[in-house]
Formats: sequence, structure tokens, C-alpha cells
Amino acid sequence: MKDFEINPSILSADFGHLADEIAKVEEHTTYLHIDVMDGHYVPNITFGVPVVKAIRPESNLIFDVHLMIENPMKFIDSFAEAGADMITFHVETVEDPYPVIEKIHSLGKRAGMSIHPDTPIEKILPYVEACDLILVMSVRPGFGGQHFMEESLDRIAAVRKVVDEKNLDTIISVDGGICTDTIARVVRAGANLLVAGSAVFSNDDHAKAIEELRACVLS
Ligand code: DX5
Ligand code: ZN
Repeated sequence: MKDFEINPSILSADFGHLADEIAKVEEHTTYLHIDVMDGHYVPNITFGVPVVKAIRPESNLIFDVHLMIENPMKFIDSFAEAGADMITFHVETVEDPYPVIEKIHSLGKRAGMSIHPDTPIEKILPYVEACDLILVMSVRPGFGGQHFMEESLDRIAAVRKVVDEKNLDTIISVDGGICTDTIARVVRAGANLLVAGSAVFSNDDHAKAIEELRACVLS
């Protein structure tokens, strides 16, 4: 992948016009972040398999499905079949991550693991090598538009250290509070896939918002 990429999160898109919203970012990014919430693991409900399936024919972007759900294993097949390219589950939701990672890989998809800001970062470090992506949450998952937790910078750096020491190409993604004020620090700390919901979709010109985020890192 490139040095860093912006990954628009449809959580802040207009759900009544989802296909149109995606079309507006289609030519300006490579990934699309899709937040699935179950009302149990997180205190909010979004959408599930049918929505992923419905938007799949509308886009050629890499669908990065972020499962904020209990018992992710139960739903891997359905999300893979619906068109997910990458499936990320939370370390807090499984006893043993390896069978889940293997299941995702067996379906030909990329496997990601995410970590809640309240969970010690050490919990995820043993799995960095087995995963294609590590998603460091920089807000408490559940809602868009929250403030970036500054303590996430050290956590990102801890994951980056493992990736570099072992010479891996695991993607380091960060999710929550990414905006023009925070993105440069996050990339400097070692992240290379930046999820941005409100920063992209709350701006009427989504494409311009993506360019503005990029410019903050490059300047
Ligand atoms: C939060 C979600 C995020 C959310 C980020 O639980 O996982 O993907 O869309 O939203 P912003 O970028 O608005 O913080
Ligand atoms: Zn997310």
C-alpha cells in the first residue's frame, strides 16, 4: 500500500442516499470503512449483512468491515459472502483469535483485529504477525464524531514497533477522531490507514475533505 491512505467511514454518511454518498468518494480513495454494531458489544446499532450486500454492486472500493459485535465467528461467512474484502473483529470479543483469523483467511479475505482504548495494548501485540491489519481505536467505539484520545499515539507506536522489528507489512489502522487537527500526529506515530467518518461525510464536499486530510500529512 501507499505511505498512508484515508479510509472514509460510512457511519457518518447519509444512509438515505448511501449509494450516492459512496459514489462521491469512489474516485478519491481505495478503501471504504463499514461499521457494524450490534447494540451489545457497543451501545449502538448500525447495519449488517444486507446493507453490505446492497452496496457491493455500487462500488469497487476495498470494503473494510469493522465488526463491533459479540461472537464475530458466527457472522464471518455472511459478511464474506456479502462482499467484505477485509474483516476486522475486536480482541475483546473472542477467547482465542486464531480460529477467527484462520476462518477469515480460509474465505480468501484479509483479517484484521481491533482493540478498544480501555484494553491494554499488550493484548493485541502477539497477533500482529497473524493479521493483515491492526485497528487501534482512538475513541470508545459506538459513535462517530468523538474526540481523538491522545493516549492512542503511544499505542499506535507500540504496534508500529512490532511491525518494524519483525519486518511485517501488517497495516496499522486508526479509527476515531481523525480530522485535520489529528491526522498528521497519527501518521507520524506509525499508522498508515486512517479511518475518517465525520471529517469526510459531514463536509458537503467529501472529495475535498479527503484531500484536506491528505494535505495535512504531506505539508
Ligand atoms: C466508531 C467507528 C468509527 C467512526 C469514526 O465506533 O468505529 O469508524 O465512524 O468516526 P469519526 O471519524 O467521526 O470519529
Ligand atoms: Zn470503525
